[in-house]
Amino acid sequence: MSWATEFVELSKTKHDRNVFDCGEQALNTFIRTQAAKHMQAGISRIMVLPSAQPLLNQKFAICAFYSVAPTSIRRDTLPSPLAKKLPRYPVPVFLLAQLAVHKAFHGSGLGKISLIRALKYLWEVNQHMPAYAIVVDCLTNSAHSFYTKFGFQVLCEHNGCIRMFLPMKTVEQLFPS
Ligand SMILES: CC(C)(COP(=O)(O)OP(=O)(O)OC[C@H]1O[C@@H](n2cnc3c(N)ncnc32)[C@H](O)[C@@H]1OP(=O)(O)O)[C@@H](O)C(=O)NCCC(=O)NCCS
Repeated sequence: MSWATEFVELSKTKHDRNVFDCGEQALNTFIRTQAAKHMQAGISRIMVLPSAQPLLNQKFAICAFYSVAPTSIRRDTLPSPLAKKLPRYPVPVFLLAQLAVHKAFHGSGLGKISLIRALKYLWEVNQHMPAYAIVVDCLTNSAHSFYTKFGFQVLCEHNGCIRMFLPMKTVEQLFPS
């Protein structure tokens, strides 16, 4: 199985959500049973990288996905040199809520590709509605070490997860206009 060239919005009719397996039960359950409902409710956007060829049921497998939503953080969770430049009310950020790769592709560079595509997507949204940073909530130590590798820094503890952030000014350097 090989993957298509572009991430597209999740479609219940086009994408086979049930065969996705990234090895993390919470993320498998999310894409199989919750993601479409979240989109329908208008609370997040889920982008998937389909397989290049359809399965026997004519749907496309999901090789990787990410989900994004707007949120805000408290100014005082940021390191003080950054916090002191910001006003004393909630700071708008983008939440990269989930990112996962089908385990058949682990170690083949698709995690990195998916993260770069997610950052680019949010960078483009930022052109229309600016946010201060991108935050991620790490469910596992492995997720923490993955995001650390790509420059995310620890922000705070959030609902039992380590919340990390990457300032939008850093993202800007990746995609110069
Ligand atoms: C984390 C995950 C997305 C990585 O995907 P992947 O396709 O295996 O990663 P890649 O092959 O693109 O690796 C890119 C780089 O990150 C490194 N890397 C991969 N997983 C890593 C991890 N858990 N910790 C640290 N580095 C990691 C690779 O060594 C590689 O480094 P290199 O560019 O120097 O060679 C994938 O393992 C996954 O879906 N895990 C389950 C879900 C999850 O934990 N998601 C993140 C939190 S929501």
